[in-house]
Amino acid sequence: MDRIRIVGGNTLNGTIPISGAKNAALPLMIASLLTPETLTLKNVPNLADVNLLARILRNHGVDLAVDGKRPGGGGGAGETFHLTAREIVDTRAPYELVSRMRASFWVLGPLLARCGEACVSLPGGCAIGTRPVDFHLDGLRALGAEIDIDAGYVNARAPRGGLVGNRIAFEKVSVGATHNVLMAAVLANGETVLENAACEPEVGDLADCLRAMGAKIDGIGTSTLTIQGVSGLEAARHTVVPDRIETGTFAMAVAAAGGDVLLEGAKGEHLSAALDVLRQCGVTINETNRGIQVSRKDADLKPIEVETQPFPGFPTDLQAQLMALMTIAAGTSVIRETIFENRFMHVQELARLGADITLNGDTATINGKPGLTGAQVMATDLRASVSLAIGGLIADGETTISRVYHLDRGFERIEEKLGNCGAEIERIAA
Ligand code: UD1
Repeated sequence: MDRIRIVGGNTLNGTIPISGAKNAALPLMIASLLTPETLTLKNVPNLADVNLLARILRNHGVDLAVDGKRPGGGGGAGETFHLTAREIVDTRAPYELVSRMRASFWVLGPLLARCGEACVSLPGGCAIGTRPVDFHLDGLRALGAEIDIDAGYVNARAPRGGLVGNRIAFEKVSVGATHNVLMAAVLANGETVLENAACEPEVGDLADCLRAMGAKIDGIGTSTLTIQGVSGLEAARHTVVPDRIETGTFAMAVAAAGGDVLLEGAKGEHLSAALDVLRQCGVTINETNRGIQVSRKDADLKPIEVETQPFPGFPTDLQAQLMALMTIAAGTSVIRETIFENRFMHVQELARLGADITLNGDTATINGKPGLTGAQVMATDLRASVSLAIGGLIADGETTISRVYHLDRGFERIEEKLGNCGAEIERIAA
């Protein structure tokens, strides 16, 4: 298994191109199941999760052609995917694949809507909490699906005449349930209203793409989506939004290491809460038409109190990175995680770098120190692993991160992007 070695202490200066968002690319690729015509997606990031989903979709009969292989990268230089699900050859998504990536469970809604039936493995456990799928199933049942669970599989069947629109109020904001039920509702008969829908930019991106495919959706960007079902969708082209989590991660890396970096192609309106937090910490942020300029020169980092919230609040996917940053703030910070239980696996690893963090239920108290010390650490999940890279950038001496396959799931060429800005970072192949 590959490792990443970082020697801390360098400031970061230069430009980092922001990739297409993983969390948008995944549901967008799944949307190709809804039509026999070709869906073209531009700016798709080259990530392990994207490649795994491509395998899963091929199993269902999706033909994938890729062009625009990036010659060394660059803002918006992701790959272009042409996905064509002329015929769905298999409506079953097996455990072996779904258990490796939770988002693949979202094929359920589209398969059910297009084929009238689907059999999808339950996603199973996850390192950051129990993460059930009850909202997904309740939503699809409300559209008329008959669903039973047998031997770890969800068996779903639509009524004879197809799914039927309904009013669905989600009990709690769920990104995945919104994606899943939205994709089913676009082909249902009549009107569906989704209340308390997730308004994360990735949901808006999916809805925009579905609209380009001929779906009728109102309320995009709000928590109420109104969908008038249509009988079929068509070919479309769509560009994946820039990754706001990658953007926030690099912004925190610059804040931690010091320096001045342009996050090229980033959209500030997709991460206002995180940028506000960084400004309160004393980081200089300028939003320009080229992206977001982040700089911190000699100023101390001020401590902060933050709780994670659904969009537009501070994202849970940046919680670990913010915590790494606060380990060197001048004072005590408090971070409360309200979205997932057990999303604190990075705490014990940051402690190996010398961080002073106390956990109490859903709340972490971080006593800032002047610096961290390099050590061997282990990645435990996607966002936790990148918080260790931030820790490594500020730690004195050498940090080695093992299990970097977690990083590869969601961060494209991270060692190259940071290395180009002056970080001493390298991948050590197994
Ligand atoms: C997505 C993102 C993930 C992000 C999360 C929250 C992708 C690929 N993943 O995950 O990076 O951290 O949103 O912004 O886009 N819940 C239920 N029942 C359900 C569904 C969810 O109780 O049926 C709970 C979850 O346990 C969690 C909360 O709702 O506590 C939010 O989860 P959800 O928004 O669904 O997360 P994902 O879509 O899995």
